[in-house]
Amino acid sequence: MRESLLIKAAFSEPTSRPPVWMMRQAGRFMKEYWDIKNKYSFLEMCKTPELAADVTMLPVDLLGIDAAILFSDILVTPEAMGGDLSFGANIGPKFANPVRNLADIDALETDVTHKLQYVADAIKVIQQRLNGKIPLIGFAGAPFTVMSYLVEGGSSKDFKLTKLMLHNEPEMAHKLLSKIAKVTIDYLNMQIAAGVNAVQLFDSWANALSWDDYKEFSHNYNAQIIAGLNRKDIPVISFCKGSSVFAPLMAEAKPDVISIDWNVDLLDIKKRLPQGIAVQGNLDPHILYADKKLIKERIYKLFDRMKDENGFIFNLGHGIMPDIPFDNVKYAVDIIKDYSY
Ligand code: CP3
Repeated sequence: MRESLLIKAAFSEPTSRPPVWMMRQAGRFMKEYWDIKNKYSFLEMCKTPELAADVTMLPVDLLGIDAAILFSDILVTPEAMGGDLSFGANIGPKFANPVRNLADIDALETDVTHKLQYVADAIKVIQQRLNGKIPLIGFAGAPFTVMSYLVEGGSSKDFKLTKLMLHNEPEMAHKLLSKIAKVTIDYLNMQIAAGVNAVQLFDSWANALSWDDYKEFSHNYNAQIIAGLNRKDIPVISFCKGSSVFAPLMAEAKPDVISIDWNVDLLDIKKRLPQGIAVQGNLDPHILYADKKLIKERIYKLFDRMKDENGFIFNLGHGIMPDIPFDNVKYAVDIIKDYSY
């Protein structure tokens, strides 16, 4: 796998073209996902290694992307810590026992990798199916983003309760974040031991934070996690929404790759980062709703802009939306594979 496009680009080595994968590449925009989802619940799919492998393989077989990403969710770690997690149709994730005070935080367990053994099992099944063809990316949620689901009890627009805890009860917040960080290090090392070829840390909602709060409550924990990984030959990708602002700080945590949102010119931000840090991104996912002519124009424009740079992985600035036409996603992958430097 060390010679694959993804791993070489992640380590800022030259490649014949940029590798392509897409966040949320295994999901509801695919009919074949629904064929499985209509028979099982989302958590059943995550927890049954054969099913998780079936879904992981959908974009490998149907899109021909250059990397697979483990089918799972960032919320399996807080569930293992004691969160009572469910996913209702069209309401997203819910925790029935939100974490709002010190007693709630004290009740969370931190030796939980044994409860996540199903993820290690899924990784082994997936690697058998991939059979060395392309790398497998493992992942986990970053402490701030995971904390927000535990505190809010689900998704949130404004993160009001989470930010209130950061501001009024910072010690309590740090206690919670430390516990999540510890679990995340163990969990990602378990994924590495089980055979993933790269890992991505998802700090999806970091863009809700001010610079100082990001530094104190998010960046410090992400840096701890990255420093705690057994990462020989395993590149670490750091993703957050808000990376167009936070990337220089994210670089201080020393990931191999920073995944960039679509608000910024990718070359400009790469030039502001230390040598040897690759970038991933950064097409606005909404481009994939548009006409094919525009899809091609925008992707090739990005590639032309990045053509003199090593260390570029094509991705979207965030995940594929469920109603993006499959045909457009397939078209994007095809034209990317036609591109050569
Ligand atoms: O990228 C992939 O294809 C791999 C699988 C993957 C899922 N979730 C599957 C999923 C990954 C990498 C995630 C990460 C995840 N989960 C994030 C970070 C990524 C990001 O988009 O920023 C977050 C914030 C979550 C939490 C989560 N899981 C939410 C908010 C929801 C509901 C809303 C939504 O987008 O569906 C989920 C459910 C979820 N996770 C689904 C899938 C395929 C949908 C389940 C269904 O079919 O109903």
